[in-house]
Amino acid sequence: MDVTARIERALDEAVATAEVPGCPPRLAAAMRYAVFPRGARVRPRLCHAVAAACGEDHPGATEAAGAALELLHCASLVHDDLPCFDAAETRRGRPSVHKAFGEPLAVLAGDALIVLAFQTLARIKCAPERLAMLTLTVARSVGVPTGIVAGQAWECESQIDLVHYHRCKTGALFAAATVAGAASAGVDAEPWRIVGEKLGEAYQVADDIRDAASDEEEIGKPIGRDLALGRPSAVIELGLDGAIHRMHGLVHGAIDSMPPCRNGSELRSLMLSEAKRLVPKKLAQFAA
Ligand code: IPE
Ligand code: IPE
Ligand code: MG
Ligand code: MG
Repeated sequence: MDVTARIERALDEAVATAEVPGCPPRLAAAMRYAVFPRGARVRPRLCHAVAAACGEDHPGATEAAGAALELLHCASLVHDDLPCFDAAETRRGRPSVHKAFGEPLAVLAGDALIVLAFQTLARIKCAPERLAMLTLTVARSVGVPTGIVAGQAWECESQIDLVHYHRCKTGALFAAATVAGAASAGVDAEPWRIVGEKLGEAYQVADDIRDAASDEEEIGKPIGRDLALGRPSAVIELGLDGAIHRMHGLVHGAIDSMPPCRNGSELRSLMLSEAKRLVPKKLAQFAA
């Protein structure tokens, strides 16, 4: 089975645990709507690519870790789109979860997906040390002091450091993807953190570029939100050219930081193809 099929199957199995008698059907439907159809699935793909590069020996652990990361990512998008955050009415080319199901169910679906991520991890059958490492790695990336929750909370402060904000709200989950990929393969995982941190920062810089210079049809979500909401953005701080330059510097920095591994070629091509995909079509001539 290829990696995409493994990722989709693990997510489907996780979400299906809500689709049983006794669970409010509209909550279960909102959870499925938040996870399917898929976005780029870049975090689980990264987790799988690192596990493969490290000589994956426990496919079930990689699959559960990848699913947990994607469930947390989807939850973060549901909450991020709410009127009290970015007030975004579309996501992945259709109404965002609160537009389709209402705010109470969007809050609850996001909460339930966060819990489901940890339920998914807890079901891995492996050595307790490996499970603890995976759980702590994933937890660190969503909570405080420097996970997604902290990243989003910086928007409530009067002074924000752009790089730190990006590292928390986006970089942390990418760092968890590389560390969990290596941990699920049972190798020394910490050296992989820097790779994920750089990639995650690159990804958020790319997201800022798309917010400024793409169109809603291309990215499936509203554009111009950073400027409208007064969010710190790489484009506002560095200009478009500067932001593109920074993104490429970070991606190449991530590739150069890869620890020695058995087979890194797939991972290297994933990083390069993402760097290409993320530059809006009309700026493609600057993407080389
Ligand atoms: C969007 O992430 C939010 C960011 C943290 C930049 P993605 O661009 O990975 O969103 P999907 O999953 O493909 O929709
Ligand atoms: C997303 O940041 C970070 C999250 C933790 C969800 P943005 O607010 O910039 O992402 P989009 O543009 O809504 O996907
Ligand atoms: Mg936001
Ligand atoms: Mg947003």
